[in-house]
Amino acid sequence: MKILALETSCDETGAAVVASGPGKQYVRVLSNTVSTSLHIHAKTGGIIPENAAREQVKYIFPVIIRALTSAFPPKNGKCDFLAAREILKKEIDAIAITQGPGLIGSLLVGVETAKTLSYIFKKPLVPVNHLLAHLYANFIEPKEQYSRPKKYWPKSVFPFIGLIVSGGHTDLLFFKNHNKYVWLGGTRDDAAGEALDKIGRLLGLSYPAGPEIEKRARTINENMIKFKSPMLHSNDFDFSFSGLKTEVLRYVKKTNINEDTKNQICAAAQDAIIKVLVTKTIKAAEKYNCHNVFLGGGVSANEMLLYKFQQINKPSRMLHFFSPEKMYSTDNAAMIGAYALLNFKPEKWKLLQANPELYFA
Ligand code: KG4
Ligand code: ZN
Repeated sequence: MKILALETSCDETGAAVVASGPGKQYVRVLSNTVSTSLHIHAKTGGIIPENAAREQVKYIFPVIIRALTSAFPPKNGKCDFLAAREILKKEIDAIAITQGPGLIGSLLVGVETAKTLSYIFKKPLVPVNHLLAHLYANFIEPKEQYSRPKKYWPKSVFPFIGLIVSGGHTDLLFFKNHNKYVWLGGTRDDAAGEALDKIGRLLGLSYPAGPEIEKRARTINENMIKFKSPMLHSNDFDFSFSGLKTEVLRYVKKTNINEDTKNQICAAAQDAIIKVLVTKTIKAAEKYNCHNVFLGGGVSANEMLLYKFQQINKPSRMLHFFSPEKMYSTDNAAMIGAYALLNFKPEKWKLLQANPELYFA
């Protein structure tokens, strides 16, 4: 089966073609195209939904044409609308689309495009929850051997604990199998990525701040600054990060900030967030007797996060940690296709609605 997948939940416009990989356990990516309007949002220090939706309209058809023609390069070399139409007709079995959560304007662009294509080309339409798809980026066949060597892929990936850490969400889930999962907890206020972005704004870093915070944190060996890890010892699987942002704000107000203190603040804030993410995830893995932990979402691109997870392993309790290859950790359409391929539940195009509030069933 080959799926054309679309992702338009926020500021990235993505289209990808995916197919079943070896043993049907992995998903093979035949093409993955992303256009981003991030440069526009960097100027406003955050996303203005109206601007994001306008950019989605501009990019959606070019990315679909690019995804289809790079998965199946036309013999005459003409990668245009007509070639894409023929490929969609002949090669593609279904269309997958992000239904939510996200910004309504952005979501509508993708959902209405997918519905139209599904109707015209008579292809099944599979709605996908963007958050679950972040975890399913782990099912994409690895290209870079060092990131997730195949030999370490466990025989049975289930059950696993999933930690979603993105710009808008922080959630812990227990997965029994593809069809059965339980939401264990999530953030009560800001998401981990959102906290990093807000802290970055306080420090005058460009948006989104996660990657620069990670880079600056890497320069610090011994840190004089420490921030509290919110809800570290609470008796649940919830998180809260808005207090951390306030603590950083207070520190910034009373201190003379230079480049070195900025780096130290970045390292201390990153540490505080990682500590609580690791602690609660391990607690969940122990409670639900899981040996596998899947990370997903933009913050899972953070190498220190994965390192800290791996560091807590003891001979008596070996856990396997998986995080997507970097290009699949932030928003992309390949992960939407991966989820649709492994959870193939088509919906009638007439019934499908974009849902900005979509959460967990
Ligand atoms: O999953 P994502 O691309 O978009 C949402 O669905 O929200 O996540 C974006 C978030 C941003 O908050 C960004 O600052 C953060 O992921 N991020 C990182 C890194 N790369 C992106 N945070 C920490 N370290 C990184 N390397
Ligand atoms: Zn996302």
